[in-house]
Formats: sequence, C-alpha cells, structure tokens
Amino acid sequence: EKEYFISSLMARMTLKEKIAQLNLVTPTAGTGPFKTKRALEKLKDGTAGNVLSLRGTAESIREKEAFAEQTRLKIPMLSALDIIHGYKTVFPIPLGLSCTWDSVLIKKTARIAAIEATAIGYNNTYSPMVDITRDPRWGRVMEGSGEDPYLGSVIARAMVKGYQGENLDASTSLLACVKHFGMYGAIEAGRDYNTTDMSRVTMYNVYLPPYKAAVEAGAGSVMTSFNDVEGIPSTANKWLLTDLLRNQWGFKGFMVTDYNAVQELIPHGVAADYEEAAEKAIKAGTDMDMASECYSMFMEKLVTEGHIDTSYINRACRRVLEVKYDLGLFNDPYKGYQKGLAERVILSKEHKAVAREATQRAMVLLKNERQTLPLRPDSRVALIGPFLDNKAEMLSMWSPDGVIDSVVSIVAGMKKQFREVKTAVGTYMNDDPALKSFEPFDSAQQAKMIAEAVELAHQSDVVVAVLGESRWLSGEARSMTKISMPACQKELLKALKKTGKPVILVLLSGRPMVLTDIIPHADAIIAAWRPGTMAGDAIADVLSGKYNPSGKLTMTFPRSVGQIPIYYNHKNTGRPFKDGDRGQFKSKYLDEMNSPLFPFGYGLSYTTFRYGDIVLSDTIVNGAKKHITASISVTNTGKYSGEETVQLYINDPVASITRPVKELKDYQKVMLAPGETKKITFNITPEALKFYNHHLVYDWEPGLFNLYIGTNSDDVKEAHFVWNK
Ligand code: IFM
Repeated sequence: EKEYFISSLMARMTLKEKIAQLNLVTPTAGTGPFKTKRALEKLKDGTAGNVLSLRGTAESIREKEAFAEQTRLKIPMLSALDIIHGYKTVFPIPLGLSCTWDSVLIKKTARIAAIEATAIGYNNTYSPMVDITRDPRWGRVMEGSGEDPYLGSVIARAMVKGYQGENLDASTSLLACVKHFGMYGAIEAGRDYNTTDMSRVTMYNVYLPPYKAAVEAGAGSVMTSFNDVEGIPSTANKWLLTDLLRNQWGFKGFMVTDYNAVQELIPHGVAADYEEAAEKAIKAGTDMDMASECYSMFMEKLVTEGHIDTSYINRACRRVLEVKYDLGLFNDPYKGYQKGLAERVILSKEHKAVAREATQRAMVLLKNERQTLPLRPDSRVALIGPFLDNKAEMLSMWSPDGVIDSVVSIVAGMKKQFREVKTAVGTYMNDDPALKSFEPFDSAQQAKMIAEAVELAHQSDVVVAVLGESRWLSGEARSMTKISMPACQKELLKALKKTGKPVILVLLSGRPMVLTDIIPHADAIIAAWRPGTMAGDAIADVLSGKYNPSGKLTMTFPRSVGQIPIYYNHKNTGRPFKDGDRGQFKSKYLDEMNSPLFPFGYGLSYTTFRYGDIVLSDTIVNGAKKHITASISVTNTGKYSGEETVQLYINDPVASITRPVKELKDYQKVMLAPGETKKITFNITPEALKFYNHHLVYDWEPGLFNLYIGTNSDDVKEAHFVWNK
C-alpha cells in the first residue's frame, strides 16, 4: 500500500517538486549566498518541503505549517527542531543523563520530550547524538553519552525507542535523527568541525556501534557529520552513507546533512563550486540538504545537463516521502496537534517528577571526605556562587525552548529543604564564550565578593559552593583548551576552605573538567552537569540525603589537559606502565601520572559497598556451550540504603589484533538496604567476546579471557576463563 501510494504520488510530481522534498530551510539565519527569499516563502511557493526551527505556539506553528497545504500536491512537511534533552520540561544534558546508566529512565525522558514537542507540532528531532567522545575539550561532549561503545549503544537504542514510540505514526511519535554520522566525536584536538582520521578497526570496534544500534532500533533518519572520514567529508562519503549504512546495516530512512554541510564541501576541498558539491553529496547518498540550498539551486540544472541521473533524485525523494508516510503525515499533516493539548501536557506534574528523578540520578558524587554529605536539614547553609538564582544557567545551549520561569533555582530548592540558607555571590560566573575575560575581571571587586562570602561562611555550619562553567562554554562551537576551574573561582574556593567550615562543591559543567588542583579545597564534590528544570529541588534532594547519589561517570576526568585523549578502554602498548611502576623507557609522562583523576564508571554513594569474589560457573569452556555465568555478592556496608551499578568488563589478552585492556560488556543496577547482600549474576555468551578483526570480520577468538567485576572501571575483582572453539 505504501509502495503504491508513494509511486503514484511520485508519478504526479515534477522534477522541481521532487527537489523541494530534498530541501530543508530555516527561518533563522540563512547561510551562504542564497538568501533569495525568506524560508517561509520557500515553503509557500513549493521550493522547500521541510523546515527547521519554526518557533511559536502550537497555533502559530500550525498556521505556518499550513503553507504545505497550499502547494499543488499538498505534501506535508517535516517540521524539525533540536530537542536534545527535553523540550519545555528540560532534563539534565545527555552526558548527565548517561551517568544514570538507566536506559528505562532515559527512554522515558525521550518519550516525554516527544509528547511535549508533538503537541506543539514538531514531527522530527535531531537527536540522539551518539558520537563516542574521548576529548572533553570538545564542547559537544555534553550532547552525547560519553566514551563507551557498549553503554553508548544501550542509550542510543533507548532514546530512539523513546522518541519514536511503538509506532511511528502514533500522534505522539517524533522522528529520531541519529547524529553525527560518522566518527564526529573523534575530531582532532577537540576543536569543533575539525578533521578525523582513524583505522577501520577502531571505527568498527569503538565509534560505529552506537550509530548501528540506533539504526537497528529503527531510527528513521540519520544526519551527516561536518568532519571528513578517510579524507572524504561525510556528506560526500559514499562508503559511509551508502555502502556501510545502507548496504551493510540495512538503513531504510533518509539522510539529512548537518547545517550547510553541502556548501562546506568547497572549503573541505573536494568540490570546486556549489554544483559540484550538490552532485557529490547526492551521489554519495545524502538525501536532504539542510540550509545550504545547493540542491534547490542546482539540482535541476545538473539533471538537465546530464550530470546527474534522475534516479538519484527519485531515490532521495522516495526515502523522504516514505518516512513522511511512516509518520502518518499524509493522513494528518498536523499530527499531535489538538486544541489545548500543549497546555495540558507541557511541564505537567508527571513530566516534572521524571525530570526531578533524572536530575537526582544524573549527579555523580566525586568526593565525600569524612562523610561531609549528606547534610542535616537543620544545618545553617552558606550557599555561595554566581549561579544560585540564575534559572537560565540550569539549562544548556541546547535547550533554547526550555521555559526559564519554570526552572526551580538552586536557592529556591535549597530553601525548601534546609532550615537556614543565606547566600553570597562570591565570584564571577565567567560566561564569556569568547573567553576574553576568562581570568580575573576587576580584582578589587573580586576581593570584595570573596570577603563577603568568607564572612557568611564564618556565620554558617557548612558551605555549599556552586561553581563551574556557564552554559555558554559547552555545546556546538564551544571547544576549550582550558577546562579547569577559572582562577577567580579557585581563589574563592581556597578562601572558603580556609575558614575551616566543611566545603561542598556542586560543580556545574557540560564536560569533565580538570579538577586536580581544586580537590584539596573541597570536602565533598558533586558533578551536577547542567541539571535542567528541576535543578534546585534535585540538588537539595541530594545534599539533604533525601536521594542517595548513584550516578557513575561515563567520561573519564583527566588530571591535566595534556593527558587528553584519555579513556579507560585504551590499549596496553608494548611498554605498559602503571603509576608507581619503575622504568624509564615505558609508555608514560615525565610530568604527569598515567591514571585519570576519576575513571570511567566512577561515582560514590553515601553508603559503601563491599564486593565478594567472582564465582564462575565454568573456567574452561568448550565451543558448543551457549553461556557461562559470573556471580558476585555485593553488600551494603554503610548506614544508608543505596543503589550500586555493578559493572562487568572483559579483556582478551592474546588476540590477532591488539585489544583494549578492558571493555564494558554488561552491568546491573542493584538497590541495597544497609547490611543487605545480594548476589548478582551475569550471563556471558561468546557475543561478549567478539570484535572486528583486521579483516573486519566480527567474531571471537578462542583462548584465555580476563574478567573483571567492580564498582568502576579501575576498582574491580578479577577472574579468568578459557573458552575453546
Ligand atoms: O542538529 C544540529 C547539529 O547537531 C549541529 N549543527 C546544527 C544542526 C541543526 O540545528
């Protein structure tokens, strides 16, 4: 039926109308020389079939979308928006959400985003961002799920399912777009839009799995990345877009470019002009042109002059129409819209409750000396920092539609849960994206602010300093070489610590930061990322112990910028070195340790957990066996109930190619009451032993395997088994 519907529609379409389906315009800034008409005019006169970032109320958006109804064939449009961590109800940034390791909760957040966004009239989000990230200098690490391919794949699947729901044509289903294909997280030196270069073995084993998982979960669209892959920009890379994505992985949806990426083939140096750029992109498998207008300006000419066969246009147009059909837009171009619905669902009590839970669970307790936390509710709290009543700062660069007024500020949240909360600003926020004023501003003013904060600390029982980066320092085009705390904030923290009062640092950031030199100046540290709508309540929940933190890092925190890229699943090298080892000619630094400040998987709790020894069902396994089990008992040895994420890693010490020292293969979350012990059992199948070898064959190799189970990637118990073929 679908085939017939699309074929008969396409039989009636002119070449121009088909090309319009490949054009996505935006009412905000246009790019390049083709700002001939306003985007809405292009939708109206049928030169564009899709739009990004229409903004307004449900009613005004519906009115604008109605332009499609006026075109000859009344083909509905895709109305896209970057809905990255919630729509109006804002959840923590994706990097924070990933620290929950909770795919059910993450799926729920995506579902809520879809419910709210479809009620306004959007039918396409540019999420999930599934790029593996090993470089915290890159501002976009905030948008992803960190450094691990296994966890990244689990989360990618959950998000696609959450956005798209059970059936894509349901009224609350939002089309997911997997980005940025591919390998964008590996851009050199963490500088946005930069180049990437790596072996196929690394691509297949590390970078590609989350994209593949998202495609297998049914994502209807994929976005090209800005970078080049093996010397060919993604947008013109036939191997990537067609051979791998479609022919090997079976992707059936459409491929949209990142913003203006077709034009950018020129500065990349693979196209001489706009025409050549359009030709290369469509031939490689790029279906939809976001904002560059190269398709809409030149495609017809390219066809008439015989440079491009019409089959390319037909192929791309069919893919776009098929997705529109799957979304149910031909039945209802405004699906999701219902008078009054947006007001009912947006920022509902239920949505806010999920946001509060997500924010609690995203926080990672990095340090808790002498059990400084949790605080007693009758504590007199000196709440210090420049973010306390700044609601916008609880959101991120990628939540422009978050409702600032609905945010629970940190001061408001804290006042609800503590007897006495007094505030001081203490320092500058440091929000200049150009970093012109990264170091102390007005030193006399800074000294005055510190003195006031110190005075307040003296009158209080405990200091809670909320410091870190402003929201404008992470996100797109926000790469940084200095990712430590700014000098003015460090100075403040040192002064507060000198008062002798317990100091708790609540760190706001969109990336792992270098905290090495501030660690001694705080008794407790909590990474709270960019926390979202329910910031204040959730932070107070954690500080008061109403919620016992359970977040675990999904990106390594380096000791210094010079260690980057740093990640737990590195290779052993021929001259491995562990901090504390002796030996000069080893793989190490002269001026820094090898180990990170906080490893992948790390995160404390107010309680403590003791791990028993690993018990394997078999230590020598024959090929026919389907699985073995690895069990471990975990005991809550502290005073509080708490949740632990029990992590399982495997290493293949002798293989045909060098393999990582450890790779996450499974994990389980377990809730334990004080004194309680639970036995956790994992099934291990040959699937967990597989990798792509030098010939890119995905298989496992017999022999010895090292197995690790523990509380983070570094602190583990160890066992061994031999699995023969
Ligand atoms: O979706 C984004 C992408 O991640 C980065 N460039 C702009 C796109 C559209 O806003």
